[in-house]
Amino acid sequence: MIVVDNLSRSFGGVFAAREVSMSVAAGEVRGVIGPNGAGKSTLFNLISGHLRPQSGTVSLGGTRIDTLPPHRRAELGIAIVFQGARVFPGMSVLENVAVGAHARTDAGALSAILRLPRHRRGESEIFADAEAALERVGLADWVSRPVTALPLGQQRRLQVARALTAKPTALLLDEPASGLRAPERQDLSRLIRELRADGITILLVEHDVAMVTSLADRITVLDLGRVIADGTPDEIRRDPAVIAAYLGKASA
Ligand SMILES: Nc1ncnc2c1ncn2[C@@H]1O[C@H](COP(=O)(O)OP(=O)(O)OP(=O)(O)O)[C@@H](O)[C@H]1O
Ligand SMILES: [Mg+2]
Repeated sequence: MIVVDNLSRSFGGVFAAREVSMSVAAGEVRGVIGPNGAGKSTLFNLISGHLRPQSGTVSLGGTRIDTLPPHRRAELGIAIVFQGARVFPGMSVLENVAVGAHARTDAGALSAILRLPRHRRGESEIFADAEAALERVGLADWVSRPVTALPLGQQRRLQVARALTAKPTALLLDEPASGLRAPERQDLSRLIRELRADGITILLVEHDVAMVTSLADRITVLDLGRVIADGTPDEIRRDPAVIAAYLGKASA
């Protein structure tokens, strides 16, 4: 479904992505792991459109999308939850999700929603979608609570709900489990499995290697901007290059 071919992107001469090729098959959970600074978020942003590659291509269902702005990619079915995504304090849980549904990825998308006939949706429809998405992630009882009342684990589910209002075919998550306690991680893992069962293709960028190896169908491992391994969780666990990359960082 998503094919990344030979993508490169550098910052000040240092490659954050170097000739990265990988793909995400329809219906799978594709894990992306790697030590700090490996280039995981760079790859994520190159797929979402928040970064442009210096070379290489990104395709979705056979169509090149690497020159499209983020909101166009969102319209094509790619939804994202950024690393460290925050909630809007001073709003209810429902409003937080509705605002996300409205603003989607940027101001361009908002004006598109207001102007284009196919986006001319009533406010009540936006709230109904937001409520359905909150129900989907198990937050139905929280809709009218202030968002600041939500524990961190539930805030992450809220971010997923916001992404789901776009009715995506692919959901990209950047470190959704960071800062969560073990039971919250298990809840999140369960939700990701359910979304896969619903037919949503998932790209899961995570620090938590145990979580990714238990969830993902296949895993891409990055180090210093390069793909150092790609395979099933079993293959990745046994891969000497992966072991070396993690042990190297641990002892550094
Ligand atoms: N906007 C930017 N400007 C300059 N350097 C950047 C930028 N974004 C990323 N980098 C650099 O590119 C490299 C890869 O960063 P990236 O954020 O993609 O790594 P990561 O694997 O997501 O790390 P983490 O696990 O800490 O989230 C790092 O060396 C980082 O400092
Ligand atoms: Mg990152």
